[in-house]
Amino acid sequence: MTPTREAFQITGLAGKRTLSGEIPVRGAKNDALKAIPASFLFSDTLTIENIPHIADISAMANLVKGLGGIVEENDRTMRITTTHADGKELPVEIAKRMRASVVSVGPVLARFGHVSFPHPGGCVIGARPIDLFLKSFEKMGATYEVDDKFYHIKATNGKLRGADIFLDIASVGVTETVMMAAVLAEGTTTIRNAAMEPEIQNLASFFVECGAQITGIGTPTLTITGGELLKTNGQAYQVIPDRIEAGSFAILAALAGTEITITGCNLEHLRALLSAFDTAGVRYEKHTNALTVYGADNYTAVNIKTHEYPGFATDLQAPMAILLTQAEGESLVFETMFEGRLHFTDDLVKMGADITMFDPHRVMIRSKKQLVGRELESPDLRAGLAFVIAGIIATKTSRIRNIHHIDRGYEKIEERFRALGVQIERVAD
Ligand code: EPU
Repeated sequence: MTPTREAFQITGLAGKRTLSGEIPVRGAKNDALKAIPASFLFSDTLTIENIPHIADISAMANLVKGLGGIVEENDRTMRITTTHADGKELPVEIAKRMRASVVSVGPVLARFGHVSFPHPGGCVIGARPIDLFLKSFEKMGATYEVDDKFYHIKATNGKLRGADIFLDIASVGVTETVMMAAVLAEGTTTIRNAAMEPEIQNLASFFVECGAQITGIGTPTLTITGGELLKTNGQAYQVIPDRIEAGSFAILAALAGTEITITGCNLEHLRALLSAFDTAGVRYEKHTNALTVYGADNYTAVNIKTHEYPGFATDLQAPMAILLTQAEGESLVFETMFEGRLHFTDDLVKMGADITMFDPHRVMIRSKKQLVGRELESPDLRAGLAFVIAGIIATKTSRIRNIHHIDRGYEKIEERFRALGVQIERVAD
């Protein structure tokens, strides 16, 4: 994304717990981001509801427009018609900036028989190769070439065919793109060791409502029998609540709140976090679609190991690490998925945290240390929000720079945090 040259200026609470009130959760970025390119699987207009207003969504909508789709937006509703679309080359600037762009390759390839795209960019949290995408499409009868700028993938005779695919890693993006490709492929595709994230389940369930044949939704084995383009018959796709927002807000509440209610969330998607809360001693109350968290003075260390859903989400690892800087004892954080996702802890050390990195995947966070505010560069979306939380609990003032990363995934976060009592301003940088 083009840097907006803005920063967040936060006056820290110096360890006091003063925040209270309600904070609403928006639609899940990582659900809406896949629903938008899924429009290529439909013969009629796809309506998507509960869209969050964030930079990544605008980028994905522009990507679909670049491929010839017609996108109409009205507040949180997006209507996408791809009836006359015929684009086969992903808009380069968007694809290079956003990893999720690669998910659109499956539906575009399945629909048009051909797709070209540059190596996808996105948050720098690890190598993030696309080998499993290419391997899967090859199994489905596609061939690919790579030149200095693009991958060019072609389906033999213009049509993908069903295949039995074992994913070496239960990748979210590969599961989604292969599932979408399989919806329009000839014959049956089985995806084994499929990812089971709620966003994938939501996508698959909607496809079934619109005529797709998919079994095994929510399990590691998805079986998809391909057919014609799907038809919504006027049904709208409902983006699920963002579980990463919900979890991050719950962590902020535990650290700096007296009583904060997170509204519009799905607690089933938060089981791993709530289990860690149980160990840490965070008190909370569950309601239908809401969670109240009560801050406390003492928390206990917890070992966290990130894992595919339903395990502890890698996207919650950074905010959880902030909570662990305030827990008594030693917490081991094992980031299994991305080798670049613990580097942000260097800055926590500069803020006064006691953290030892054993290797790029593992850190030890030791007993409660008061963090001291400072200037921080947001390295990626999730660590960026973790820095905001760190700034809120720290002494003094913190300035979080590079907030275009945060704007990619969290809608007007400063307004929602201010409503809880956080002193945070968006300032020119
Ligand atoms: N991987 C490969 N080869 C591939 C594809 C993936 O080695 O061809 C590896 C990745 O490098 C990584 C692991 O597989 O080490 C898992 O990555 P996965 O493909 O599951 O991640 P993703 O689909 O790129 C999505 C979310 C991420 C989230 C991960 C894991 C979206 C748009 N992104 O990424 O969210 O961290 O799943 O849950 O859905 C974020 O929102 O900030 C974010 C990074």
